[in-house]
Amino acid sequence: MDTSQGSLAGKVCLVTGATSGIGKVTARELAQRGATVVVVGRSEARSAATVSQIRRQTDNSSVEFLLADLSSQQDVRRLAKEFENRYPRLDVLVNNAGAIMLSRRESVDGIEMTFALNHLAYFLLTNLLLDRLKSSAPARIVNVASNSHERAKLDLDDIQVRGRYWGFGAYARSKLANILFSYELARRLEGTGVTVNALHPGLVGTNFLANNGPFGKLLRMAVVVKGMSVERGARTSIYLASSPDVEKVTGRYYFKEQEVPSSNASYDEDSARRLWRLSAELTGLPAEAQ
Ligand SMILES: NC(=O)c1ccc[n+]([C@@H]2O[C@H](COP(=O)([O-])OP(=O)(O)OC[C@H]3O[C@@H](n4cnc5c(N)ncnc54)[C@H](OP(=O)(O)O)[C@@H]3O)[C@@H](O)[C@H]2O)c1
Repeated sequence: MDTSQGSLAGKVCLVTGATSGIGKVTARELAQRGATVVVVGRSEARSAATVSQIRRQTDNSSVEFLLADLSSQQDVRRLAKEFENRYPRLDVLVNNAGAIMLSRRESVDGIEMTFALNHLAYFLLTNLLLDRLKSSAPARIVNVASNSHERAKLDLDDIQVRGRYWGFGAYARSKLANILFSYELARRLEGTGVTVNALHPGLVGTNFLANNGPFGKLLRMAVVVKGMSVERGARTSIYLASSPDVEKVTGRYYFKEQEVPSSNASYDEDSARRLWRLSAELTGLPAEAQ
């Protein structure tokens, strides 16, 4: 792993979904560059184990964890408060936690789980931490999306997918939402010194899909065989979070540390504004939040 991309000493980075896969390597590499790293996990045991592992591997004792089930809005709000109470600044927010649900489930807030976890958690956590990011500017937001968004169209009238549910479809739509959200937020943050970019990590052998019973575990094995290593899969997240090359770049989509175009649908500003309004409504934020 190339760690020559600039020191992050004195910076505070928060990485969600950092107990596994791409998020865990991202958190480790940011710690390796000297940042204070806050690992967000939903299991205390896995979070504590991740923190001790990263501290040991990087010799950086400024790695801590905060707990939240990010599919629960109450937990996201508590997380944001706890973070603000403990850390005076936030230089890098990496929204990474995500999952695919092969059967339809709802969050504790009664929202289709994929949309709740993969999109609304990014939206709510980011908005709640925006003041801290702005006061720490130059600051960065990195949203882990996926190239699966290319197959998606967002049906804002059926966000709950009450009709026929297809897990890969719901996942693809949530990842399109990540990109629409990133571009809209970049427009809203113009002139603040806070950048926001989205990325596709590649097909990566992680724990992804493992939460879906024996069939999910089988699919996961296929991804592990076909996919790239987690170290490689985390590179674009680390690049966007830390490289001086992209310090001022905002509202872009990356793959393999290169800017690439996202789907036509992802550039539709009207959809982005409508998604923003709906997300604000579903999370109880003012529509003009930010
Ligand atoms: N792997 C790929 O090929 C691939 C491709 C494109 C995009 N992505 C994206 O990459 C991101 C990271 O995925 P990954 O491949 O690294 O998968 P992973 O190994 O399954 O890691 C997912 C992380 O999200 C956390 N998480 C899941 N549900 C959560 C919840 N309700 N509350 C809080 N945290 C939760 C998991 O925590 P636990 O440890 O507690 O389960 C874990 O730390 C996701 O956004 C995914 O969509 C992955």
